[in-house]
Amino acid sequence: MSPTFSDKARGASRILGTGRCVPEEVITNEDLEKIIDTTDEWITTRTGMKRRHKVAEGEATSDLAAVALRRAGEDAGIELTDLDAIIVGTASPDMPFPSTACFVQQHLNLPGIPVFDISAACSGFIYGSTLANSLIAAGQFEMVAVIGAETLTRITNYQDRSTCVLFGDAAGAAIFGPSDGERGVIAAYIGADGNLSHLLNMPGGGSREPATHETVDARRHFIHMEGSEVFKSAVRAMESSAKRAIEIAGIRLEEVDLLIPHQANVRIIKALTSRINIPPEKVYINVQEYGNTSAASIPIAFDEARELGIVSEGSVIVMVAFGGGFTWGSLVVRL
Ligand code: UT7
Repeated sequence: MSPTFSDKARGASRILGTGRCVPEEVITNEDLEKIIDTTDEWITTRTGMKRRHKVAEGEATSDLAAVALRRAGEDAGIELTDLDAIIVGTASPDMPFPSTACFVQQHLNLPGIPVFDISAACSGFIYGSTLANSLIAAGQFEMVAVIGAETLTRITNYQDRSTCVLFGDAAGAAIFGPSDGERGVIAAYIGADGNLSHLLNMPGGGSREPATHETVDARRHFIHMEGSEVFKSAVRAMESSAKRAIEIAGIRLEEVDLLIPHQANVRIIKALTSRINIPPEKVYINVQEYGNTSAASIPIAFDEARELGIVSEGSVIVMVAFGGGFTWGSLVVRL
């Protein structure tokens, strides 16, 4: 049974503001050429990536997340003390527990409100946004922050050339508040298939394979990915999610002003673009600058697109994600 989007959820909330935080340090393709058997040419043609950013020594996911949320609060023109909840989507938490959201709350000194993480890998921001909209629709909360934040360079195996060129660190945040009727979330759709969990995961460090000297020596505490299998599923799932969400929104494809896909690989984005049949100029791509930042990729792209004036009040935006789990989802908003 596919989940549906109720009339109550439609237009329940709108995005009041966005923010992002990208660490300063940059890893270029040329830097990677020096540590593994790869080339700028291979990385550029196979992924579209040129650079990815890396956190400083001692910095953690919540540090980036808190800055992104503070900026989103400024952009929204609200006090963060007005928030009723904070949701963080991450696959690279500060610690297995407590949640990264608890550390974000601590950094911003917002005690009292409920805060929690969502584990949906690269789909974390779409899952979190869907939930935020539903919680506002249910009347549970009025204002909810959703953050996608990652420090994937901490769990990247720099001895594995098939994955280490891909990942970067960043955080993006959006604040959801009451809709004014015209603008808001007009569709949300999320799904998952746990049967494919073996294709993309971090095997070590959980209850299945607790940390031991052996798991560390075997490099089990890093991202494991079977890239070409993930690639095919990503294209299929993002295509069907975006189409489904556009159908739920009840809009025509021509009404979409911007598609913001998860930035995993420019070839995935191009395959998706041609399958959905949306003109390339309506598709946002920044994978060359950040690499794959998992749950952060959509909110940082969204924040950039707003800052650049590519979208503004009234624009219809379709965001679509795919990630480990497998998980997928799509959100349609009228800004
Ligand atoms: O965030 C959501 C989840 N992630 C994704 O959606 C990522 C999905 N997957 C991908 O983006 C692509 O599969 C990759 C970029 C990871 C790999 O591209 P590919 O076209 O699927 O390459 P491949 O894995 O089939 O490897 C092709 C060749 C292999 O060599 P042989 O066996 O043909 O001789 C690899 O060993 O490329 C080789 N290769 C590299 N060569 C130079 C793999 N990584 C590298 C590298 N530099 N970094």
